[in-house]
Amino acid sequence: MEKKAVLRLVKAAQAAAKRAYAPYSRFPVGAAVLAINNKIYTGANVENSSYGLTVCAERVAIFRAVTAGARKIKALAIFTATKKPTPPCGACLQVLNEFGADPLIILATPEQTETTSLRKLLPLGFKFGEPD
Ligand code: THU
Repeated sequence: MEKKAVLRLVKAAQAAAKRAYAPYSRFPVGAAVLAINNKIYTGANVENSSYGLTVCAERVAIFRAVTAGARKIKALAIFTATKKPTPPCGACLQVLNEFGADPLIILATPEQTETTSLRKLLPLGFKFGEPD
């Protein structure tokens, strides 16, 4: 992916982090996905007083893309205002596995941006196999 496109996705994730609802953890996360239609869909974590009903930023962004009709994801950027970058949790990796071949994963903080891929973070994601 072009540097300019990476930067654009990171900026979208950074802006999305501002809309996180994270009064319990105080850990706002922003995510932005670049879908096959070249549109960007953003998300932020939404917490709940029951704690367990919290949804991660990544899944909000992925579900927004999918429910807009964009079922193939080319890249996912995650922004946190931390020293170290925040990789997606296992649940979000599995959800991403459903909607992309090997999407680029961009981990961004105010100081650095690093890239990896779904295959690297989730080498053997679950998919239904052919029946015997
Ligand atoms: N969170 C995300 O949104 N994405 C991640 O990759 C890790 C965790 C959120 C969930 C919760 O609101 C807060 O961060 C602390 O776990």
